[in-house]
Amino acid sequence: MSIIGTVHPIRNNGCRSQPGYLGYRGMATLENDLLKFDIPEIVYGIGALSSIGDCAQRLGGERVFLVTDPGIVEAGWVDEALRFLKQVRLEAVVYDNVVTNPRDYQVDQGVQRYLEKKCDVIVGLGGGSPMDTAKGIAILVHNQGSIHDYVGCNLITQPIPPLICVPTTAGTGSDVSQFAIIADPKKKLKLTILSRAIMPDISLIDPKLLTTKSTELIAATGMDALTHAIEAYVSSLAWPMTDPHAIHCIELVFTHLVNAVQTKSMDSLEGMAIASLEAGIAFSNAILGAVHALAHPLGGLYDLHHGLANAILLPMVVNKNMEHAPEKFAAIANAMGAETRGKDVYQASACVPEKIENLIAALGLPRRLYQVGVKPEDIPSLARQASEDLCMLTNPHCYLAEEIESMYREII
Ligand SMILES: [Fe+2]
Repeated sequence: MSIIGTVHPIRNNGCRSQPGYLGYRGMATLENDLLKFDIPEIVYGIGALSSIGDCAQRLGGERVFLVTDPGIVEAGWVDEALRFLKQVRLEAVVYDNVVTNPRDYQVDQGVQRYLEKKCDVIVGLGGGSPMDTAKGIAILVHNQGSIHDYVGCNLITQPIPPLICVPTTAGTGSDVSQFAIIADPKKKLKLTILSRAIMPDISLIDPKLLTTKSTELIAATGMDALTHAIEAYVSSLAWPMTDPHAIHCIELVFTHLVNAVQTKSMDSLEGMAIASLEAGIAFSNAILGAVHALAHPLGGLYDLHHGLANAILLPMVVNKNMEHAPEKFAAIANAMGAETRGKDVYQASACVPEKIENLIAALGLPRRLYQVGVKPEDIPSLARQASEDLCMLTNPHCYLAEEIESMYREII
C-alpha cells in the first residue's frame, strides 16, 4: 500500500450540509483536502524551568512579559522563573490577573501592560488559562481590534511576538496547540480562536511544576487530556501523523492518571506530562469533537472547570459516537487495556464507555451535570451554542441542536 493509501480521507461529517448551517469564519482552511502537522520546539525534563532564560534569549527577547495566575505565584514558580531569567540578565514584567476561564478584558489589560512596559517576548506560565491569555495578548500586540475579531479559523494576519508556554498542569495541551479559548463574561460565551499564528515557539515542560497542583485538578486536567486524545483520534481530520500520539496518550492516561492523583509520584506525573503533550500534538493538528463542543457552553455559562465538564460529558458522547467510527473505538479500547480478544469491532468499541466510567469513578469526579450546577431550563440555549461550536465540525457525526438537547438531558 502506498503512503498516500494509508492516509485517512478527510470526511465531511454532514455539519456543512445541515439546514441552517451558517459556516464558521475562516472555515475554508478546513475544507480543502490538504493535511498539515505543526508543533513548537519542545524542551522537556525535570528541572527544565531553569532554561527559561536561555529559551527567551534564543528568541531574541530582552524584556519578558510573564503571564500567570495568583495560584502559580503562591506556589513559588513565578519567583523561581524570575530568578532564572535574572541569571541571564533578562528583565521581566509579571501580569498575574488571570482567572480560570480567562476573560476578554484580562487580555486587554495584559496588552496595555505589555505595550506600556515595552516588552518583546511573552511567557505563559500556568494551566490553560494563563497560556490562553498569553496567546490572546500576543494576538492583540501586533493585530488591530479586539479579541472577538479573531474568533474562527486563521483570521490572524500579523505575526505575534515570540511566545514560550510553560504548563503547570497536565491536560490542556495549550503549550503545543494552535487553539486559544477566551470567555466573554457579558454574553457568557466561550470564544474559540484557532490559528497557526498562535502556535507557541517553545513549549517548556517541567514535570516538577505538577507537584504543587491539587489532586482534584490533576484528575480533571487528566480527563481533559484523555478527551483530547479520543476526540483527535476519531476526528474527521485525523491522519497517521496524529493517530500514534493520540493512542499513546490514551495508554499513558490509563497507566498513570489514578496513580498521579493518589500518590503524585514523579513517575506518574511524568507519564501525565507526556500524555498531555501527545494529546496536545494530536488535537492541535486533528481538531476535536462533540465533547468539547458541548463543554465550551458549560464553561461560558457556569464558569465550570473545562476538564470537569469534559469528564461528565465524555462517556455519553462516546456512546453516541461509537457507531460512526467503530474501528477507531475498537483501537481505543485496546489502548485502554480492555479485553478485546475474540470480539468484533462493534463489541470491542462497546468496552470504551465502561472503561471511561470506571476511570472517572476511581478519580472520584462527578458524573451528572446537576452536581456542578447545570439547570434544565438552560439546556436549549446550551444546545444551540454547542451545535454552532467549531469542534462539532470534526466530530465523527454532526449532531443537530435538538439531538444535543437530549444529550444534555440524558446526563443532567
Ligand atoms: Fe480541552
